[in-house]
Order: sequence, then structure tokens, then C-alpha cells
Amino acid sequence: MLRRLHPEQPDTFAFTPANQAWAEAQITKYPEGRQASAIIPLLWRAQEQEGWLTRPAIEAVADMLDLAYIRALEVASFYFMFQLQPVGSVAHIQVCGTTSCMICGAEDLVAVCKNKIAATAHQLSSDGKFSWEEVECLGSCANAPMAQIGKDYYEDLTAARMGEIIDELAAGKVPTPGPQNGRYASEPLSGLTSLKDFDSGHTKYNASVQLAADIGDTVKRIDGTEVPLLAPWGKANAASDTDNVNKKPAPAKAKSTKPKPAAAKPEAASDSVSTGTEPALLSKAREGGADDLKLIKGVGPKLEGVLNGIGVFHYDQIAAWNDDEIAWADQNLVGFKGRVSRDNWVTQAQALARGEETEFSQRAKKDDIYKE
Ligand code: FES
Repeated sequence: MLRRLHPEQPDTFAFTPANQAWAEAQITKYPEGRQASAIIPLLWRAQEQEGWLTRPAIEAVADMLDLAYIRALEVASFYFMFQLQPVGSVAHIQVCGTTSCMICGAEDLVAVCKNKIAATAHQLSSDGKFSWEEVECLGSCANAPMAQIGKDYYEDLTAARMGEIIDELAAGKVPTPGPQNGRYASEPLSGLTSLKDFDSGHTKYNASVQLAADIGDTVKRIDGTEVPLLAPWGKANAASDTDNVNKKPAPAKAKSTKPKPAAAKPEAASDSVSTGTEPALLSKAREGGADDLKLIKGVGPKLEGVLNGIGVFHYDQIAAWNDDEIAWADQNLVGFKGRVSRDNWVTQAQALARGEETEFSQRAKKDDIYKE
């Protein structure tokens, strides 16, 4: 299949301030002179923001990395994960058509997409909400047939369920990803035949689906209004980024000048990594019991156990963390490094400590995403 730039292109592209800060933080991951290696995450972020990869976006990313436009276009046109044409405003559905899925009914899923969305792949539905394409194996063959919708996998599909999922998405709902036939993961449908004592976990869903439910951005666009996803090495950008989160995107740069690469110096990145200061910890929960820390986005049952283990039981403890204490927590939550900044726990905990709900806590309670 030929992959070409779409004939209709917008005039400009600019990352939102939050995405700009995120992109600049990504560039600092690479050594001096190797910033071009950040091309894939930056192109991907541009696509997450816009839904598809426009020519101005490809050129803006090339400018940030001091690359010739053709080099960035080579990458964008090589990888099928980059959409070079507009996709549905609600969802772009990628149906796996490779062997396992084809044998198990992928053609029926494609027929549903043709019927409900558009007759041909990469064509928008009449209301502009959906598009679809057939893709190569997505690595979920044990749960064939399957489709990727937005960022998540919908597995063990039937034509009927595929149709329902499209209808639910059109109605503004986001169906729970993962197996659609009652399986927990990829165990036999008739039940386990070995490892029967295996405890499938403490979560309602398997790890991938639980994380998808936890993050909740299956078909959500990253438009700069979300909590910035800054890695610890990008903390130097965090303050300005947070200030800018709800502002409009920055104006596009003039195309006639080639700006310097936006990469920060490597030493800035190493300066920003700190072990910080240990916050006040408790030996046990106060009278009345511990707060449900899982209502903080990014904290699952396992991480809640880790937090309780080091002496964090209450929202107001996290709500009071300053930058040094956040840095300490980011460094010392073994296996979860950077999670505190990434999900902006402090802001969430402040709201919960005041007795307010966050968008995530409401959804977590409503969907009961963790087993009692
Ligand atoms: S064949 Fe469809 S996921 Fe592998």
C-alpha cells in the first residue's frame, strides 16, 4: 500500500503547551547530538494530539529535532502506526486480519466495519466519527479475532459484539477492553487445565485491561488539558507546564525559519534528578482507617500496598508533599518510579482530602474497577 500525505492539509501545527513541555522532556533522554532519536515519540504525540499526522506536524517535529523534513517524512510514511489521513473523531478501528484472526472471523469484523462505518478502509463514516483499517498481527493471536480501538485491544470478538462496541462508542461510552467473551486473559474458555491454584490477581480485570481501565484514555485525545505526563528527568519543565495546562495551544512557528533544536542540555536532565526529602510517614493508619488510595489515578492495589508499607495511608499526607518530597516518592517507589509526578498525585489527593471527587475517582467508583 502506498503511504502518501493526504491531499488536504491544515496550514499550521503547534503542540499544546503541555505537549510541548512533554516533547522537550523526551528530547533530553538522548545524548547530545542524538536528539533526532526522539522522532518517533514526538510524531506519536503529535498524532495523539491531532488524531492523525499532518504535514505541518511532521515539519514541526523535524524543526524541533533539526532534521530535514524528508527525514521526518521517511519515518512517518514508513510506520503504519502513523495515520497519514484524517481518522474518525471518536475512534479509528484497526482490525487484525492476519492468520489467527482471519481463521477465527476477522473477515466478519471487517464486514461490520464496512457496514457500519464506511465501505473502504481509511474512509470516514458519514458523521465523521469513525474510520477503520485492516492491520497485520497485533500480537494478541491467542485472543483472536481482535481489534485495536484507540489505545486498547478488544479481543475474542464476534461480529455481533463488534457492532455493539461501535454503537456504544457512538453513544459516548467506552466499552471495557480485553476479552469480550468472559475470559480473564488467554486461558482456555472452558477454564484452567493447569496452574489451577494460580490466583489470577487482586484486580477485576487482567493486568492490561486493568491498566486501561485505570488510565481511562482508550479513545481520548491528548489535547493539552490533561495532567501533564512529565518524566522525572523533565521536572525542570513541570512548573511552567502545569501553569499552561489549560491554555490554548501556542501559536505555530513561522515556517520560513529553521529554529534551533529545542533539546535541553543533558546536564539539565541530570540536575533535575534528585532523591529529594522523605515526607512525614505514619506507622499505621489513623483511627477510622486508611483512605482508599486507589481513588488516586495511577494507584492500583499493588501500589496502594507499597504506599501503606512505607507509611502512607491518607490523602492529606500526599496532598501536603512539596517538590522535594514528590522527588523522593518518585525515586523511592520501587517499580513505580516517576508515578507521582506522572499522574499528579498531589493535586488529586488535595481534592480527595477536601472531600471532593476527581474525574477518575468518580469513574473508579462507578465502574468498580477494583475488586473489593
Ligand atoms: S493474528 Fe491477529 S493478533 Fe495475531
